[in-house]
Amino acid sequence: MRNYLRELIAFLVLALSIFSFAAAFADDAVSPSQKLFEGKCAQCHGKDAKGNVKMAKALKVDPINVDLTRAAAVSLTSDQTAAIVTNGKNKMPKFNAKLTADQIKTIVAYLKTLQGPNAAN
Ligand code: HEC
Repeated sequence: MRNYLRELIAFLVLALSIFSFAAAFADDAVSPSQKLFEGKCAQCHGKDAKGNVKMAKALKVDPINVDLTRAAAVSLTSDQTAAIVTNGKNKMPKFNAKLTADQIKTIVAYLKTLQGPNAAN
């Protein structure tokens, strides 16, 4: 009985360490900038920045306006994009009190990668 318990505990310890190793590894795959974008922007703009149509409808805006991969958004420079995030635009909330200037820079850099090779700098 004692041996059985010891084996069970050893097994649990091993399983737990493999699990936490895998979890740490999986967590590393998501960059801090991606986490910020997915945490603060994806609810309206989608994880791929193509826009969340349901959210657009709920906000009563044309879904094209939340698609950040359309030409008008892709052609915004990083500074212009950061200004919109900082100060808001119509129903787009302002993030000046919720994110630091550095976090906004990080998010914009990540967004530019989602916008593809034609994204303005
Ligand atoms: C509550 C929903 C919501 C959240 C959250 C949100 N946005 Fe927006 N965003 C909008 C809406 C709605 C618009 C369209 C505004 C308009 O043009 O009328 C918009 C517009 C924009 C635009 C301007 C696009 C253009 O072509 O003019 C940018 C850039 C943008 N959002 C980036 C972001 C980023 C980055 C985040 C995360 C920090 C974010 N948004 C979070 C709703 C949201």
